[in-house]
Amino acid sequence: MTLDEFVKAVSALDTHASALVSAATTPAELESARNALLGRKNGDLSALMKSLPSLPADDRREAGAAVNRVKTTIEELLANRAGSLVPVAPSGPRIDLTMPARENWKGGRHPVTVVIEEIESIFRELGFTIALGPEAETEWYNFTSLNFPENHPAMDMHDTLYLSDEVLLRTHTSPVQIRTMQTTKPPIRILAPGNVYRRDFFDASHAPMFSQIEGLAVDEGIGFVDLKATLTHFANRFFGGTKTRFRPSYFPFTEPSAEMDVECQICHGSGCSSCKNTGWMEILGSGMVHPNVLIAAGLDAERYTGWAFGMGPARIAMLRYKLPDIRLLYDSDMRFLAQVSS
Ligand code: PHE
Repeated sequence: MTLDEFVKAVSALDTHASALVSAATTPAELESARNALLGRKNGDLSALMKSLPSLPADDRREAGAAVNRVKTTIEELLANRAGSLVPVAPSGPRIDLTMPARENWKGGRHPVTVVIEEIESIFRELGFTIALGPEAETEWYNFTSLNFPENHPAMDMHDTLYLSDEVLLRTHTSPVQIRTMQTTKPPIRILAPGNVYRRDFFDASHAPMFSQIEGLAVDEGIGFVDLKATLTHFANRFFGGTKTRFRPSYFPFTEPSAEMDVECQICHGSGCSSCKNTGWMEILGSGMVHPNVLIAAGLDAERYTGWAFGMGPARIAMLRYKLPDIRLLYDSDMRFLAQVSS
């Protein structure tokens, strides 16, 4: 090929390109024009370039410059055309714009989770931090260190799910008290939420696995008044102002021990079937940490005192949402959960 012929071919490509590009009326047509002109394998431009080596060596420089110019021109033609093409609505079924929008299904937090998070935030404000412990525990952490007498009925196969001779599923979150005291120097203020297991519990107000929240404060010179003030403050914050009362109780790991009641959230004290006509509902067990427990965890029981409590968020959720049956919380029935989750 001579330089003359080559330059003619370049200008023919220029003319062809401008006709091809202006004939494209959709983005898809423009795309196939781009392929025909600039495609690496079979495009017109690359065909021209392949004939460059057949030119006399002295002419190649000029020929190369001509190819580059036409390439730039084609790219500009394509870009201009692309800007002036309006996308065309796809063919196919027409869209009915009057149809009501489909509502998105929004997930929510489970009511027990909502209650746990709210309790955590109230105690966080008071300087408590979150502590966690294992659900598979040893007998020592679950019972012995917590001052359960040897052969206490709670250790019995009846209530406790044993995984082996030594290892069991914790029946309460109180073992986290021991684990915390073993690793943390007082002052201690922790909240320990978690799952616990009891074997023979399943009726309208009990489930075999349920969550608990443990609280523990240990320091020099703290007493029952701190326990009572903190838990009363909590109940008022959580229920938005409520009557409370403490009743003497018994736990092996606290002495003295007390259960706290709040006024029945359903009848507000006048008496109904939910509160068995007492006007009150129990929400937690508590007490001063027994000196034997401090000693078992390796603390100086002469120097430190502590108080602790344990409560059941599911029970508290029943009160908050006025539920007749705790199993509603475990059934995963979306019709129910959609009403109370948030
Ligand atoms: N662990 C007790 C229970 O499961 C609750 C509790 C915790 C009581 C801490 C007193 C102090 O019933």
